[in-house]
Amino acid sequence: MKATTNLQRRKLLKYTALGIAGAFTYPSWAQTTNGFVRVNAPSADFLPDVEIELTQNTADVSILSGNKTHVWKITGKVITGSSEVLDNNEGTYLAPTLRLKKGQKVRLILNNNLPAQSILHWHGLHVPANMDGNPMYAVNHGETYIYEFEIMNRAGTYWYHAHTHSVTARQVYSGLAGLFIVSDDQEQALNLPSGDQDVALVIQDRSFDNQNQLAYSAHMMQRMRGFLGEQILVNGRPDFVLPVATRAYRLRFLNGSNSRIYKLAWDDGTPLTVIGVDGGLLERPEQHAYVMLAPGERLELWMDFSERSLGSELTLRSLQFNATTHGGMGMMGGGMMGGRGRGMMGGGMMSVSALPSGSDYPILKIRVAKKEQGNHTLPKTLTPITALHIDNAANAGNPKTIALSMRHMSALLNGRSYKMNDIQPDEIIPINSLQLIEFDNGYEGGMHSMMNMPHPMHLHGEQFQIVKREVNTRSSGLYATVSSGFIQNGWKDTVLVMPGEKVTILKPFNDFKGLFMYHCHNLEHEDMGMMRDFLIK
Ligand code: C2O
Ligand code: CU
Ligand code: CU
Repeated sequence: MKATTNLQRRKLLKYTALGIAGAFTYPSWAQTTNGFVRVNAPSADFLPDVEIELTQNTADVSILSGNKTHVWKITGKVITGSSEVLDNNEGTYLAPTLRLKKGQKVRLILNNNLPAQSILHWHGLHVPANMDGNPMYAVNHGETYIYEFEIMNRAGTYWYHAHTHSVTARQVYSGLAGLFIVSDDQEQALNLPSGDQDVALVIQDRSFDNQNQLAYSAHMMQRMRGFLGEQILVNGRPDFVLPVATRAYRLRFLNGSNSRIYKLAWDDGTPLTVIGVDGGLLERPEQHAYVMLAPGERLELWMDFSERSLGSELTLRSLQFNATTHGGMGMMGGGMMGGRGRGMMGGGMMSVSALPSGSDYPILKIRVAKKEQGNHTLPKTLTPITALHIDNAANAGNPKTIALSMRHMSALLNGRSYKMNDIQPDEIIPINSLQLIEFDNGYEGGMHSMMNMPHPMHLHGEQFQIVKREVNTRSSGLYATVSSGFIQNGWKDTVLVMPGEKVTILKPFNDFKGLFMYHCHNLEHEDMGMMRDFLIK
């Protein structure tokens, strides 16, 4: 394990000026902090406004009644800055919620005390390549990785999670994921609901065995489709109920599931009032009957409970939709699962069919528990968004196409599987350029593949904008069950590409040279190789 890491680090020197020295001989700066050995040095000229130590450990938490559940837990400690920047989400497997401001300089000290290599990535944040948590920076048990960056992003609901080579899915499933909420002056000036009325909700699915332990099957069929848990957890809790007062709320959602896609709707037919997406607030609120939320995506809703009666309830559901062509994968999920995984799961063995993808099920319940006078009204305009223009793209007439495919039991991007330091000519991007990129999920291809699955495509680095979505005619029936749930506006870092669909985006590659990943955020797909690096230079 160690040898591999050091090899990776040596290869890395090729791309970064700042050398991550091998751990064979510790240089002078590789002091230990709390017994952890630093693999990189804090910079002497970086003066952090906020400094947080994040320690990854094993832990046992109460999720279901009865036995505690063994999880991987990140616990934070503020070293510099106000204690408000961190909420440890104690008693759950969720990593700490971080609340920071645009412009702040942050030092995050990651101590890995897990019995495995690991590295954290700041999803949606625009940070230098060596601070981005590329798998090649993974640290061993007993080692520390130091991140230093300035928060350049606008206000928004970002998040962070493990990004370890070939085991990201398993590590995120075990608990290595949390929220990274950024605020800024422009957003604060809007006087949106705050404090208790600003609620962050992480939606995930998990399966438990009869000892209440997390069950994760890496069966090939399950990996091809992506892991589906049999139970929905919100903020690490089953049967989640949110008590609210009779006033307006800002509800922030993260789909932190490995592969499950949600079609969110209120059960009483109230439309969803969308105020924000991945990269923060929209220019103006949008109403949708339902909204699709794929793994990695975020959504901010405005919900006013002031007209609701005390004691009334409202449920957020995921509605029925068709995710795959042919229904072939459905069959694989249900009937073909079996073997060891099934036996291990005891009573809940039908983990797949217990809660099939695209079925109708509740996610959380809201109970109006308190009468209280609020003073918030939904603003007509939120925050301005500078529109990106195709004319300004470096490749305006020649979009970079990324073909998404699954065949021979692998998940590929342009026919390629992930390999560290394997940059191909079409993956080199000039710094400070705007690029037109299209994700093609069988839109052009004539092949009627059984493996046409949805792929939530994510790009590291700066946020992008969606230019257009196109779908081919043979997929239009399936597409009609999801298509009015896409938010086209706003800054995005993850976009769901449905079977038969081609999604075109405009993405800036400014400020930082080096490796920035692009991959499917179905974490099983990512681990199967549906991930590549861009080299910005
Ligand atoms: Cu949220 Cu590369 O990941
Ligand atoms: Cu990311
Ligand atoms: Cu995928």
